[in-house]
Amino acid sequence: MKITVVGAGAVGATCADNIARKELAEELVLLDIKEGFAEGKSIDMMQTATLLGFDTKITGVTGDYSRTAGSSVVVITSGLPRKPGMTREELIGINAGIVKGVAENILKYSPEAIIIVISNPMDTMTYLALKSLGLPKNRIIGMGGPLDSARFKYYLSVALGCNANDLQAFVIGGHGDTTMIPLTRYATYQSLPVTDLLDADILNKVAADTMVGGATLTGLLGTSAWYAPGAAGAALVESIVRDEKKLFTCSVSLEGEYGQQDICLGVPVVIGRNGWEKIIDYKLNDDEQAVFDKSAEAVRTMNNVLKEMSLV
Ligand code: 2OP
Repeated sequence: MKITVVGAGAVGATCADNIARKELAEELVLLDIKEGFAEGKSIDMMQTATLLGFDTKITGVTGDYSRTAGSSVVVITSGLPRKPGMTREELIGINAGIVKGVAENILKYSPEAIIIVISNPMDTMTYLALKSLGLPKNRIIGMGGPLDSARFKYYLSVALGCNANDLQAFVIGGHGDTTMIPLTRYATYQSLPVTDLLDADILNKVAADTMVGGATLTGLLGTSAWYAPGAAGAALVESIVRDEKKLFTCSVSLEGEYGQQDICLGVPVVIGRNGWEKIIDYKLNDDEQAVFDKSAEAVRTMNNVLKEMSLV
């Protein structure tokens, strides 16, 4: 098994680190365009192998896609991260061209790969990969929901004073500060609805904190977060290579599901060896559906920019 991570920045390197520690592949290629950068990160990580006890071989390469040949799963993290005060959407002009070029190069050498897109604005970059590569839809997965849901569980655990691992909670919709939808109605603490455990104003605050979870960290760190985004990417890779069939919310191509089509948006999907294998219908109520449709409209406006740039 061979896995490639494109982009050796903080998110890509952390994702690669998690993949290696979990030994999800015999071979892991880390590729970046900055001369020597991926090589440096890879050697640093390889020097943890004897300390951490993993056998995955990590190879760093500068821009040579032939070295990624035959990868089963490819994670794309390329592009600029956001700076404080910036929205994910503002990155589209710069990142769209980068992501399209990366995806095309990947496909040339790994025609069977399942592709996970993390670059922002993620739903639009996933749509771009879907439209420009012409691969079966199940092999294109946008990673936002696993991260946003982990942040939702974190804020819920703080409000409840409980272990976050005892919580089940999903975020659907777009991966944007105003487009993501923490599904409070379905969140549970060991089967108990959190709506029975927390007042509405506290729950609203938890949802609001979740939605700006990435922006809060960007403000604190001066750049985009990386531990949780990297770990979330690796969790998807794990469910694919081990065929775990775990349920995550991911940005996938909708063809009428959740009332939407011709768009990639976060919905609950089963992730296994074939990529995203099926969409689970959570039966949104009218209010939730209205917010979901609004989220779709915002993402669709972003997707139209791709058309203006003649990228799709
Ligand atoms: C975040 O939310 C990187 O979009 C990512 O932190």
